[in-house]
Amino acid sequence: MIRSKLPATSPLLMLAPMEGLTNFGMRELLISQGSIDVVATEFVRITSARQRIAPFQRHTSTPLQIQFMASDIGAIRGVIENLKTREILFEDDWIDLNVGCPSRRVNSRGAGAALLLEPEKLMLMICQMREVHETGLLSMKTRLGYNSSEEFPRILECLKGAPLDLITIHARSKCTAYDPNSLQIDKLKQAAEELPYPVIGNGDVTTPEAATRMLSTGVSGVMCGRGALINPYLFCEIRAALEGRASDFDDKDLTPSLWQFALSYLHYLQGKEHAENSNSQIGSFKEFATWLSRNPYIGRNFFDEIKRMSSLKEIENFLLKSTPTLSAPGSQNNSVYSNMF
Ligand SMILES: Cc1cc2nc3c(=O)[nH]c(=O)nc-3n(C[C@H](O)[C@H](O)[C@H](O)COP(=O)(O)O)c2cc1C
Repeated sequence: MIRSKLPATSPLLMLAPMEGLTNFGMRELLISQGSIDVVATEFVRITSARQRIAPFQRHTSTPLQIQFMASDIGAIRGVIENLKTREILFEDDWIDLNVGCPSRRVNSRGAGAALLLEPEKLMLMICQMREVHETGLLSMKTRLGYNSSEEFPRILECLKGAPLDLITIHARSKCTAYDPNSLQIDKLKQAAEELPYPVIGNGDVTTPEAATRMLSTGVSGVMCGRGALINPYLFCEIRAALEGRASDFDDKDLTPSLWQFALSYLHYLQGKEHAENSNSQIGSFKEFATWLSRNPYIGRNFFDEIKRMSSLKEIENFLLKSTPTLSAPGSQNNSVYSNMF
């Protein structure tokens, strides 16, 4: 049996899954900036073995983690089997299990981080997933514990025997959610030392310095989420810093290229079926805008303007008129999506 291999790059720089944000278009755009080794789908919630799931859009050059979230072992096993029969999932695909989601609704149904409260069940689920996905990569994304990081040593003990290829650990417990003061990257050191497969650190990596700090714990890579939406060039900056060279970006180009990035994302959303009438595409752009407006080269006004707008066309007009370096729609290189959708 030949098992798929992890990408050989070291350390691995991975894009975090973010529901409503890291759709195919956003992933492609971030990949096109360079230096991302692995991306992930937003989670697919599994509730029944017979569930219909839409095909996954893969990327030509960058491996994709297909993330599932489930509480029912039979359902997730059945879905993987069915997806393979329907040729939606393949033997060499990379499956990731979400064991970190802190949503109360999800946790009350025993999924996401709630699986940390049932380590035996979690192990059984991973083993069953491995059984029906023998040759592909299998990973899990989790937190330091459910109620507190004091649970972490017991979780690690249990995970030592898990048939995983990689684990991503968001260095917070479920209860601390996203509290900026609750990140405990020292715990990653213990995981990197004790687990027999690579550990990827996650949580608040928004600068090359934060990445370097996290990598100093001995983890095999870092996963960045919100930081990449605030600064789409984050991965390039991290890679450059790790290689001891200056980042390729010239400060004076940053503002126009960030606006261009926003326009490219808008064009992706406009290219989706029924996009102009779809609140979900407008919502998706506004959610992205909340993050991008935290970039000092963009600023708060960006979101303040966009939040009032009610169509993608209105947002496009605003983007086109707000920066002099953007050319009119339809011109060459106006958007990386001009030839794709
Ligand atoms: C809006 C949003 C949606 C998220 N959706 C998912 C998801 O679908 N699957 C998942 O494993 N984690 C999800 N996460 C958690 C992130 O993947 C990541 O673990 C978390 O944001 C911490 O990393 P960061 O500080 O680099 O953002 C989400 C986070 C945010 C902010």
